[in-house]
Amino acid sequence: MNYFDFKELPIGKKMLDFWNDNGFLVIENFYSKNECKKLRDRANFLIENFDKDILFNSVFDTANQKHAQDKYFLESGDKIRFFFESKAFDSEGNFNKPVNLIINKIGHALHDLDPEFYNFSHRKDLHNIAKSIGFKDPKLLQSMYIFKQPKIGGEVSCHQDSTFLFTEPESAVGFWVALEDATIDNGCLLVASGSHKGPLRKLFTKKNNKMEMLTLDNTPFENTDTALEVKMGTLVLLHGRLAHYSSENKSDKSRHAYTLHIIDGKAKYPKENWLQRPDLPLSGFFK
Ligand code: FE2
Repeated sequence: MNYFDFKELPIGKKMLDFWNDNGFLVIENFYSKNECKKLRDRANFLIENFDKDILFNSVFDTANQKHAQDKYFLESGDKIRFFFESKAFDSEGNFNKPVNLIINKIGHALHDLDPEFYNFSHRKDLHNIAKSIGFKDPKLLQSMYIFKQPKIGGEVSCHQDSTFLFTEPESAVGFWVALEDATIDNGCLLVASGSHKGPLRKLFTKKNNKMEMLTLDNTPFENTDTALEVKMGTLVLLHGRLAHYSSENKSDKSRHAYTLHIIDGKAKYPKENWLQRPDLPLSGFFK
């Protein structure tokens, strides 16, 4: 496995060739342990202080797309909202663990609305990486803090990010940061190396005022057999067409991660995409 180190930046031919061939890029030691800890602490602070009344509206479950109809989710593009593990609730909708252990993720405008997340996300070195892999005008579209809780952290089924963050031409790239060590045991990313060269399979798009999952191409996904086991502080770039997946976390260790999704400001952003930010213009990487 070819991993790179932040000391090898800026991106040169070797890293660029790897990116173009494989559709992902692993850059170790990009963030310090202290920066990662500060972000974990901030996420905990946000959980402790949010309005718990909305808890029952927001169970997140990728196995069925029920959440997609949920207004709470669909209107979260320009807000900070909280989504919970489906397994955290019993049949009557009660939960039996502390809130910080049943949350699935926080999304989707942390990078714009929270000062700690803003600082973590707006960096010139991230801008330089985006420019090196071909962005003309990198814009930060969405951010997610993903918890992958011990024992109950849910599977994220195989998908391509451009399905959900579509532009014309396609431009979405994920900037994924390990805030804790990610291993096979706690549900690290699994990618199908080179699969970004395949077609876009699905498109999550608005039709008749309702979100639908359209099938664009029936080609089965390639095997997601490349496990990206990485240390805390590692930055992973994921091409918008790369097939990727993560399994349930059955271990007793959490696997916190932060993702930013970038699109090109030069590309067209359809109003049929689920994520809309009517009152919040897109920002670039600069502060
Ligand atoms: Fe993804």
